[in-house]
Amino acid sequence: MSEPITPFVPVERGVTEHRPAHAALRAAGPLVRVEAPAGGPAWIVTEEDLARQVLTDARFVKDPGMAPAGWDRRVAGLERPVAEQMSVTTLDGPAHAALRRAHAPMFSARGISRYYDRMAAIARELLDDLAASVPAGGVVDLTADFTARFPLAVVVEVLGVPAGHLDRAITACRDLFSPDPVAFGTALTAFAELADAALETGGGVAAELRDRLPGDTGRDDLRYLILVLVFAGQPTMEAFLGFLVADLLEHGLRGTDRESLGEFVQEALRRRPPAPFTLWRFTAVEVELAGVTLPPRTPVMVDLFGITVAPGRPAGGPDLMFGAGPHYCVGAQLALLQARALAEVLTEHYPHARLAVPFTGLRQIDGGGTLGGRLTALPVVLRDEDPRPPAS
Ligand code: HEM
Repeated sequence: MSEPITPFVPVERGVTEHRPAHAALRAAGPLVRVEAPAGGPAWIVTEEDLARQVLTDARFVKDPGMAPAGWDRRVAGLERPVAEQMSVTTLDGPAHAALRRAHAPMFSARGISRYYDRMAAIARELLDDLAASVPAGGVVDLTADFTARFPLAVVVEVLGVPAGHLDRAITACRDLFSPDPVAFGTALTAFAELADAALETGGGVAAELRDRLPGDTGRDDLRYLILVLVFAGQPTMEAFLGFLVADLLEHGLRGTDRESLGEFVQEALRRRPPAPFTLWRFTAVEVELAGVTLPPRTPVMVDLFGITVAPGRPAGGPDLMFGAGPHYCVGAQLALLQARALAEVLTEHYPHARLAVPFTGLRQIDGGGTLGGRLTALPVVLRDEDPRPPAS
């Protein structure tokens, strides 16, 4: 009997190694039965046309209320059912489309580009602080704080959250994963206060979103929509920025021309995507898929990474790293632009930055559940000389 495929078991591996499950899934066929982390059978789509069909077919819904009976929400990584809490990630159909329309102008490439200079300034401030925290030639681990702090500092700025809330936001993001119900509850309170602060201060995307939603949208729903915007991108960005910086330093900063940084960012994302799988979808009715009859409430997800790197897939085809269809990532432009801002700041202001260990010595571990790998450490020398003039 062949070994069962276990795509959700975290695997520690070298920086250039793929998670072994992707090749095994692809070899097993277009629709592969696996054991779900929350128990029972689940199905993974590994073929592109079938994936695009599932991601746009209204019979596959995101509502966690349609998950198999008995699934533990925490183990499965699910939000509350739509009947308890509306969310851009769990609604479908016209209600979801209306919410996406409300988000659209602020998260378009044009809407997000308003914040590019601030993103670069934040990257510069944080790196300068870090460089100043050690003597010239000193080593800093960028995964210790920077790769979490930078994307969160950007998203709170974009939303219009006053700057003093950043440390609380960092703790709250960590505690949303906590098995301790007290820490989890404290995190939810912190997010509600953060959202309220952004709405009261105004001037950012949170207030713009409120103004574009129907006037009867409740305060709790608004707070939740803002929480999702802070939280949805955090684990993905944190992992992605570690790999991006490692790639940039390995391939040499000095030669990187400014125009090609955008392509470099895209390529880094394709090589080691932080969201290699989509989130769960569930069949709302019985569905016939690739010759398999799936009863209602069957969990299905798509292997985005496995499809993208499939041998023979034409290069330059539309990217799947941000998903496809109505649930395509809201934050895709925000993610790409902040990554480019960081790459540009490193290139321009830290041209001699280097890895403190050989690139091939870097290790990664999967973030758990459907998340991809993240570096276990990223030791870097930001500058070899002290930029300050010697004291006379
Ligand atoms: C490199 C970074 C990122 C990657 C690879 C990524 C990837 C994805 C993917 C694959 C999906 C679709 C999931 C599915 O269809 O089941 C998604 C959805 C989403 N992402 Fe991202 N994401 C990233 C960054 C961000 C950021 C910075 C934000 C902040 C606004 C964000 C907010 C969202 C939201 C709100 C959704 C749900 C959209 C919906 O269901 O309609 N993401 N992301």
